[in-house]
Amino acid sequence: TLHLQGYNDDLRLAHVLADSVDAQTMSRFKALDLTIETKPDLTPVTDADKDAEDAIRSQLSRVRPRDAVLGEEFGSSGHGSRRWIIDPIDGTKNFIRGVPVWATLISLVDEGVPVLGVVSAPALGKRWWAAKGTGAFTGKSLAAASRIRVSNVSKLSDASVSYSSLNGWRERGNQEQFLELLETTWRSRAYGDFWSYCLVAEGAVDIACEPSLNLYDMAALVPIVTEAGGRFTSLEGADGPFGGNALATNGILHSETLRLLNPELDDLLS
Ligand code: IPD
Ligand code: CA
Ligand code: CA
Ligand code: CA
Repeated sequence: TLHLQGYNDDLRLAHVLADSVDAQTMSRFKALDLTIETKPDLTPVTDADKDAEDAIRSQLSRVRPRDAVLGEEFGSSGHGSRRWIIDPIDGTKNFIRGVPVWATLISLVDEGVPVLGVVSAPALGKRWWAAKGTGAFTGKSLAAASRIRVSNVSKLSDASVSYSSLNGWRERGNQEQFLELLETTWRSRAYGDFWSYCLVAEGAVDIACEPSLNLYDMAALVPIVTEAGGRFTSLEGADGPFGGNALATNGILHSETLRLLNPELDDLLS
């Protein structure tokens, strides 16, 4: 039955979608005729972003006609408990500038819970994925997969932190605490976007955090981090609904990081 086979067929499908989109985005990466437009929120979008989302949506409407879809560029369609969430290119600014740190994010949210995520970063030659209850993996394909696992770093003074940019923390009103986190830890780097979270899942980074993210920026990352043994919550420690901001850690460092970022929550978290 559907229940017994879990999300295996959906995971296979997400890989097939990623395979075809990888070929498409790679053919536009560093292309001289890339079209760049500015969206109403003043962020850039390219023809590669739109074509990738369009390709995924049209394949989904054929093979999963009853599922709903939410994508960054074309919004939401359909109703129902199963919803595919797509960020066609996460890291558009990198894509535009020729930096290889960008990925297509495909996820399935079932009854509000992100149950499957595939992150495909073809310019890095990397893919990460997970489905609920099966563990988290990296590799070229489902057949050539290695299991990944978060680190066991247990002290902030030994921890490595990665983020996307310094923007947004001031607006959130806790830039000071964020800078303190960067200073308290052993190492901080802005690996950016999806990469910070996939590095947490691999155990190469211990903490990733972001003050302003949309559901489509993070839905694929939630199962990858949690199935690798880590924790993924909001910056205030909520286990969902996802969207807004994000904190992912190896789990061990989670409450200490929450306490540092939310001094006013100290009593609640202890
Ligand atoms: C952006 C990236 C970035 C984050 C922004 C996102 P995009 O996504 O994830 O790291 O700081 O909030 O909008 O536009 O490149 O898909
Ligand atoms: Ca964007
Ligand atoms: Ca994004
Ligand atoms: Ca995007």
